[in-house]
Amino acid sequence: MDRNPAREDLTPREIVAELDRYIVGQAAAKRAVAVALRNRYRRARLPAPIRDEVLPKNIILIGPTGVGKTEIARRLASLVRAPFLKVEASKFTEVGYVGRDVESIVRDLMEAGLALVRAEALERVRERARAEAEERVLDALLPPAAEGTTETDEDRARRTRTREKLRALLQAGSLDDREVEVSVSERATGGVDVLGRQGFEQTGVDLQSFLDRMVPKKSRDRRVTVREAMELKSAEAAEALIDRDEIAEEARRRVESAGVVFVDEIDKIAAGYTGGSGPDVSREGVQRDLLPIVEGSAVTTRHGVVRTDHVLFIAAGAFHVAKPSDLIPELQGRFPVRVELSALGTEDFVRILKEPENSLTRQYSALLAADGVEVEFTEDGVREIAETAMRVNRRDQNIGARRLFTLMERVLEEASFRAPDPALRRLRVDAEFVRSRVEGIATDEDLSRAIL
Ligand SMILES: Nc1ncnc2c1ncn2[C@@H]1O[C@H](COP(=O)(O)OP(=O)(O)OP(=O)(O)O)[C@@H](O)[C@H]1O
Ligand SMILES: [Mg+2]
Repeated sequence: MDRNPAREDLTPREIVAELDRYIVGQAAAKRAVAVALRNRYRRARLPAPIRDEVLPKNIILIGPTGVGKTEIARRLASLVRAPFLKVEASKFTEVGYVGRDVESIVRDLMEAGLALVRAEALERVRERARAEAEERVLDALLPPAAEGTTETDEDRARRTRTREKLRALLQAGSLDDREVEVSVSERATGGVDVLGRQGFEQTGVDLQSFLDRMVPKKSRDRRVTVREAMELKSAEAAEALIDRDEIAEEARRRVESAGVVFVDEIDKIAAGYTGGSGPDVSREGVQRDLLPIVEGSAVTTRHGVVRTDHVLFIAAGAFHVAKPSDLIPELQGRFPVRVELSALGTEDFVRILKEPENSLTRQYSALLAADGVEVEFTEDGVREIAETAMRVNRRDQNIGARRLFTLMERVLEEASFRAPDPALRRLRVDAEFVRSRVEGIATDEDLSRAIL
């Protein structure tokens, strides 16, 4: 289950196949994001003059609530080894945000890029760092001869033999719980960050890292287990082996050529959206603020100037009231790919309950198994849940697959409370059981509104 397929060069088919593991249906949306992602890879392989001409085909995902828009983006994030950021467009219309700093999107994307590249760099030096840590821990276990003492050749040979024996034990894990004293370096910048980062971001000067370098590192002796010592020393060695400037540079390159920004709730900044507060002007203002970033501009960050021309934007919105055509024309033009996600039906619900690797039936089975209850969901039980969800969605408010969450919770509420219980070893969730659990609620409109 821990299979990590994340690769930069996944083909569209592979991307869709990966998304299929978690998201039911919505083939068109999956295809669109897969193609857009692959195009980044294709573009990177073009010769320079034409490469710069190829602009990302930004996407708008349109669909009712709870059908998988955000879920697709979430899964995409873990799938592509690209700097990824999810923002809610509506947050920029909130009081205090008005007119504020849409550029923070790019800064946050850069931070995501840094974290990604850093993690990769640490992974690359892991073996070397571990070898280095091993030497330091061996030093601690068998301190070198004190200075000034004369050591005979024989002494030295014996010491070497002992050290190699210890190494074998260390590698076998036999010393893990033994205690040693090691020096642990700690950066003495704790008090410096109070200056705050906000102000420095715009200046483009990475003051923090400058200060980190200026302030001498303190180190302190600590008594820890060998296992902890290996971890501390590995981390320290890895840190020393990677080059901050190189990482920042690589992160900037990756953000510029492969960054993905998911702009959720974009319909809420369209003119004509009636759900929220705030005048249309502020919503249009946010669109105008977003425009340069989507069109391509240079944003100053703590780690240098980042160009956004080739960052891929995927926007999503329910567009119940407002339509994509209510967005300002310039912004519309920048999102040429429109994909509609379909409303989900009973069959989709059945599949959502059963198929995804993180499906609700799997989740509840695992949870209750932890308390010694073996839960079995029968075919007709699952179907009954799906049908009830459809009924309640149709009658009250259509919240899509989210209805399955409230319904499942209701169906398994009693068992969840009772477990662990020696009298409750097995639970068969069939249609009969589901009906008995939601009886009187699913049919009573007011009750159902409150509970389901
Ligand atoms: N097609 C689907 N396949 C599997 N699970 C789904 C699907 N659609 C929705 N879900 C489940 O429902 C939850 C809500 O879906 P999601 O967050 O993607 O909604 P959304 O389309 O972004 O809606 P909104 O417009 O309200 O933001 C998800 O966390 C997921 O568990
Ligand atoms: Mg959403």
